Amino acid sequence: MTRKVTKAIFPVAGLGTRFLPATKSIPKEIMTLVDRPLIQYAIDEAREAGITEFIFVTSRGKGALEDYFDHAHELESSLKKSGKTELLDILRGTNMDSGAIAYVRQHKALGLGHAVWCARRLLGDEPVAVILTDDVIMGEPPCLQQMVEAYKETGGTMVATMEVPIEKTKAYGVLDIAEDMGAIVRAKGMVEKPKENPPSNLAVIGRYILAPTVMDNLNKLKQGAGGEIQLTDAIADEIDEGRGVYGLRFRGQRFDCGSKAGFLQATVAFGLARDELKDEFAEYLHDIMSMRKAAE
Ligand code: UTP
Repeated sequence: MTRKVTKAIFPVAGLGTRFLPATKSIPKEIMTLVDRPLIQYAIDEAREAGITEFIFVTSRGKGALEDYFDHAHELESSLKKSGKTELLDILRGTNMDSGAIAYVRQHKALGLGHAVWCARRLLGDEPVAVILTDDVIMGEPPCLQQMVEAYKETGGTMVATMEVPIEKTKAYGVLDIAEDMGAIVRAKGMVEKPKENPPSNLAVIGRYILAPTVMDNLNKLKQGAGGEIQLTDAIADEIDEGRGVYGLRFRGQRFDCGSKAGFLQATVAFGLARDELKDEFAEYLHDIMSMRKAAE
């Protein structure tokens, strides 16, 4: 029997330099896809997977992110008074229970592994999910829920994976596959951003369920690829110590909203997925594509 996954860590302490100058004053996680900040997509996905405790690893300049989770009482009563029930429901849907969120500080951006390690005192002897808000995934059921279901079968540590062209593997953590069971693979190794000879084209993206022993591995805090403390290394240590690490080929489309091109692609996809926008938006996209073609 695996233990239920009820806690999730959201590492949001990165500098977000690829979105300067916007990230001079706005945390990257507050940037909006259509009308919802990236963090809201991550929170909704976590809730649907059964997460009830949300741990944010933050840093300087992320105040707007903490404020986002305050209940907006004045706004709620004004919407109530004016009978705008639909907007009121949207607003209330973002409310979090008191005490459900905890914030810990990462004082220096020393890497994803270090950010996760900063949450260690808020965890017991239980598995914990990690969600990177940059990776927005359109999937039904949502990606983390698919992982929680698969984890019930496998236990151990689980990462979300997807096939990428082999030349793109150098941008990802990459799995070395011991056993391919279809949707689930068992890993015999994991390499962060391999410069050459990637062990496969199965890339790890920003969703994890970590066994408690991964925190023990992070206690050793070695610097890995790029001088950062890598979560990948702490997961690879699990394999070296004979514990199971699995990848799930999730069903869904992942957008890298940490990059400008990925963010724009996500904006188009999420815009087209909205009933109230899709016709007008599709027509506009069609028109600009036709104009481009005509100009060529
Ligand atoms: P990125 O590698 O995208 O870095 O981090 P970044 O600083 O956010 O963005 P750029 O590259 O400067 O534009 C991936 C995730 O890990 C978190 C980030 O907040 C992001 O969600 N992270 C990274 C931390 O919380 N702390 C770190 O030290 C590094």
